[in-house]
Amino acid sequence: MTTIEDLRGRIAVVTGGGSGLGAAMCREFAAAGMAVAALDIDEANAQATAESLAHEFGVPTIAARVDVGDTASVHAAAASVRAALGGCDVLCANVGVQQFGAIDRLTEDDWRWVLEVNVLGTVRTVAAFLPLIRERSGLRRILLTASSGALVPGVRLAAYTASKDAVIGYGDTLRQELADEGIGVMIVFPAGMSTRHLESSKLARPDEIGEWVIAPDDIDAMMASRKMGEEHVATAEHAVRNLLTDLVANEPYLITHGRYRAEYHTRLAALEAAFDRMEDNP
Ligand SMILES: NC(=O)c1ccc[n+]([C@@H]2O[C@H](COP(=O)([O-])OP(=O)(O)OC[C@H]3O[C@@H](n4cnc5c(N)ncnc54)[C@H](O)[C@@H]3O)[C@@H](O)[C@H]2O)c1
Repeated sequence: MTTIEDLRGRIAVVTGGGSGLGAAMCREFAAAGMAVAALDIDEANAQATAESLAHEFGVPTIAARVDVGDTASVHAAAASVRAALGGCDVLCANVGVQQFGAIDRLTEDDWRWVLEVNVLGTVRTVAAFLPLIRERSGLRRILLTASSGALVPGVRLAAYTASKDAVIGYGDTLRQELADEGIGVMIVFPAGMSTRHLESSKLARPDEIGEWVIAPDDIDAMMASRKMGEEHVATAEHAVRNLLTDLVANEPYLITHGRYRAEYHTRLAALEAAFDRMEDNP
């Protein structure tokens, strides 16, 4: 049986590793004795993650700047990881940016940016690191960060929600396509986390597509539409508490926290009802 002990000595790569969920993932991996590559568009934060983990756990670590919106940058990061650590056993394609806005306020540039980073960024991260993963044997996993918002959508986040739905569709397909090679794929569903997500999204947005904006009532409107309150927000450290267990067990999905199961069932019930109507009139 595979256990968390089997992760010792293996190599983890985390995009968005400079902050929040990605940094917490890096810490879990280092605590399990893995070598860690923290990749982020914010190189100083990635460096801080890598240095603190090397100091605390004595594992090999590296940091590199990567922009997952740029294919050459992702391939350069993969080459750096191969040169410094020798490969990749666990890849976390974790970067996601957020752009609030009611549907008539989200611009085509907003959509393009969110889809470019969240969807194509995930796809190109996997494409660049899959050759490294395929060169290895034994316990290998790919983790993709989606969002509770894709399971229970709310208002003001149409582009973000659509992008995370695409991550689910991609991840479910990837799991099937890689199963025969023994490479597991897990989709991670965080609910709200007390991270730098708004700030880092604002910083990462390219200047040429205009200012990152948020209306004063965007967050409240979104939370109210999803029937969610502050009790759904957790720290990134809390969100990763079951990560290694579920990863080792090759679970397809990780729900990190949040009490939105009933709302999710309401959505499923509506789909079930649609099947019923179809079957009533085949
Ligand atoms: N914070 C939340 O409430 C929440 C909820 C559900 C899902 N998520 C998802 O969790 C993941 C991590 O977010 P977080 O909350 O830890 O936020 P965070 O801001 O703490 O971390 C995200 C990191 O991604 C980096 N980044 C942004 N654009 C990048 C790019 N183009 N290339 C490389 N790095 C880039 C940022 O610099 C930052 O360090 C994201 O996919 C996010 O969508 C967050």
